[in-house]
Amino acid sequence: MNVGKQIERLGMMNMAERPFRDHVVLLLRLGLPLLFFPAAAPAQSENSCLDCHAALDPPLQVSPESFGQDIHAQKGLTCTSCHGGDPSSMDPTVSMSRAAGFRGKIRRGEIPALCARCHSDAAYIRQFNPSLRTDQFSQYQTSIHGKRLARGDTKVAVCADCHRVHDIRPASDARSTVHPLNLAETCARCHSNSEHMKGYSIPTDQFAGYAASVHREALIVRGDLSAPTCATCHGNHGAAPPGVASVEFVCSTCHVFQAQLFDSSPHKAPFEAMGLPACVTCHSNHRIEHPTDAMIGMGSESTCVKCHSPGDAGYEAAENIHARLAQLETAINTADQVLDRAERSGMEVSQARLEQAQARDALTKARVTFHSFRVTRVDEDVNAGLKVAALTFQAGVKALAERDYRRKGLAISLVTILVVLMGLRLYVRWLESDRQTRSPSVQE
Ligand code: HEC
Ligand code: HEC
Ligand code: HEC
Ligand code: HEC
Ligand code: HEC
Ligand code: HEC
Ligand code: HEC
Ligand code: HEC
Ligand code: HEC
Repeated sequence: MNVGKQIERLGMMNMAERPFRDHVVLLLRLGLPLLFFPAAAPAQSENSCLDCHAALDPPLQVSPESFGQDIHAQKGLTCTSCHGGDPSSMDPTVSMSRAAGFRGKIRRGEIPALCARCHSDAAYIRQFNPSLRTDQFSQYQTSIHGKRLARGDTKVAVCADCHRVHDIRPASDARSTVHPLNLAETCARCHSNSEHMKGYSIPTDQFAGYAASVHREALIVRGDLSAPTCATCHGNHGAAPPGVASVEFVCSTCHVFQAQLFDSSPHKAPFEAMGLPACVTCHSNHRIEHPTDAMIGMGSESTCVKCHSPGDAGYEAAENIHARLAQLETAINTADQVLDRAERSGMEVSQARLEQAQARDALTKARVTFHSFRVTRVDEDVNAGLKVAALTFQAGVKALAERDYRRKGLAISLVTILVVLMGLRLYVRWLESDRQTRSPSVQE
């Protein structure tokens, strides 16, 4: 509905509503419709494009509701900012004429250049938002998407595939298609679509893998925005597969300790020589799962046995480290059980509980320092943990002994009290029987 129609409708209101109506009309005349009808594009009476296209069927339809949400509309831009044309005429042969600069359908291949007309113009963008970056197009051109598009492949992602059109929102808006919580689905529209990706040599399982990963769990289930989504590892606009050298770098931006340890480990040189990426070789790239101690050692879940076999130094180290971690875990569990029993029987063990956390920290630390792949290094943490666990175990045992002692004491005092009570009762009975045997003589 345009402003003219709204004024017309207001005119049909009854007299009682007049003061309010006058107020509204005044505001409309003052040019404040934007404030009151944000969903209706600015200066709607002048936008014949929107008036007409709102009534058309998809794909030609552009609804005022969705365009009103578009950051461009909200910043005062209109259809003609991107499409050209004359928005003052309802005659399509005039409004959409070449003479009026109308460019009509924008082909996929032309979209990045269209968006870049403004978004690569730092002086222009600064007028609206000085902190908004203006390198999206130059970054895009370095990505696999951009490079392939330049060679005429239009199945790759262009700006509008990730950001959409006519309802583009700021990236920080939780409803934006590029917001961290929504981005994976946006990429998956193509990368999980085997029909679309037919003819390319890459798999289509990235989203499926990522969806089952620790990272997705942290991001979506726990709402931890520090966990990575597709663009955290691949870049927003420079979407490229990280090369072998940079794969380690991707993980190490967040997992600093593991990366440092790996760098000085005996795996660094041979992995490089074999062209193997550091972290991804054991953890995979997308389907990263919660690691367990079973991944070290000899079992079927072990990552070590893929390359090491009985007799070599790596295998021996795996066996040792696995055993040491298991030893500390058992020590912690045993101490926990003793403390549990003591607590259940009402003993005060909160101090030991606090100390027990240190033993658990040591185990966590050992699972990180494990990335040195040196038994001696892991031993340092394990031994520190074992020492604490031994002390807390002792504290638990002591509390239980104390409990037994107190129970004994209690039993003795109970028995004593019982004996005294029984004695009293006997004494009372004796007094009573004594009185009865003497009472007749009193009555006499
Ligand atoms: C009176 C109705 C009317 C007005 C006003 C109008 N359009 Fe259209 N527009 C149409 C129709 C109908 C089509 C589809 C017919 C065609 O492709 O020529 C169309 C097609 C388009 C297309 C797609 C072209 C293509 O080749 O697929 C674009 C983009 C477009 N209009 C933008 C605009 C813009 C921008 C304005 C304002 C400057 C505008 N229109 C004004 C009715 C209108
Ligand atoms: C920020 C730039 C921008 C603005 C503003 C904009 N458009 Fe578009 N529009 C595009 C792009 C880019 C495409 C091509 C999308 C594609 O092919 O995926 C497009 C496509 C279209 C189409 C063709 C749809 C089709 O599939 O054939 C129509 C019609 C259209 N726009 C009308 C409008 C109208 C009406 C407005 C104003 C209400 C408007 N546009 C505002 C960028 C814009
Ligand atoms: C493969 C998907 C993808 C493509 C293609 C893409 N973008 Fe983005 N864009 C993103 C992501 C992801 C973000 C960042 C979201 C965030 O900050 O959390 C973003 C952010 C932006 C921003 C906000 C500022 C910023 O840089 O963080 C602008 C502006 C932008 N893109 C414009 C463009 C333009 C222009 C193009 C085409 C040249 C384009 N984008 C192509 C995914 C894409
Ligand atoms: C006529 C100039 C112009 C064109 C063409 C244009 N934009 Fe914009 N765009 C702007 C302005 C101005 C803003 C608002 C900047 C601000 O104030 O934050 C903006 C904002 C954005 C934002 C939100 C940035 C943020 O704050 O996160 C995105 C995303 C975006 N544009 C994407 C696109 C895409 C995709 C295209 C091409 C389909 C495009 N733009 C075409 C001028 C333009
Ligand atoms: C419009 C469909 C489309 C969308 C959306 C899309 N891509 Fe792509 N992408 C492609 C196509 C097609 C290729 C080319 C495949 C190739 O290079 O073999 C590609 C290539 C890639 C590559 C390079 C793969 C390689 O090894 O060659 C990466 C990485 C990538 N995309 C990541 C992303 C990410 C991350 C997103 C989301 C932010 C995304 N893509 C969104 C279609 C898309
Ligand atoms: C934790 C970082 C990380 C996240 C998150 C991530 N990737 Fe990757 N991705 C990688 C690494 C590392 C490689 C390179 C693997 C290699 O070289 O062995 C890769 C490779 C790719 C490739 C190339 C083809 C292939 O499978 O090897 C595509 C396409 C891709 N990723 C898309 C995506 C998409 C889409 C998402 C989101 C659903 C995503 N990635 C999330 C790290 C990540
Ligand atoms: C943007 C930061 C970031 C990047 C990049 C990143 N991660 Fe993570 N990672 C996290 C967060 C956050 C968690 C969740 C931590 C938690 O569970 O407490 C996590 C969890 C993990 C876990 C599970 C830890 C556990 O205790 O269950 C592993 C394994 C892992 N990441 C490996 C990797 C690998 C391999 C890469 C590179 C391909 C990588 N990460 C890239 C942030 C990141
Ligand atoms: C040789 C195989 C291997 C390599 C290479 C490797 N990891 Fe691990 N990683 C493991 C195993 C096995 C565990 C499980 C340790 C445990 O829970 O006992 C693990 C555990 C982790 C954890 C969880 C630690 C915790 O707190 O429980 C993270 C995070 C992690 N690795 C990240 C990385 C990163 C980042 C890299 C690259 C710098 C990397 N890993 C390289 C095998 C490897
Ligand atoms: C992708 C193959 C690969 C995997 C997986 C792997 N290693 Fe290795 N590892 C090597 C290579 C190659 C060397 C260097 C040659 C050698 O000494 O066997 C090496 C060396 C070592 C060394 C040094 C041996 C020495 O000579 O001092 C240790 C310790 C080690 N690995 C432990 C492990 C453990 C523990 C795991 C499992 C968590 C593991 N490795 C997983 C390939 C691998």
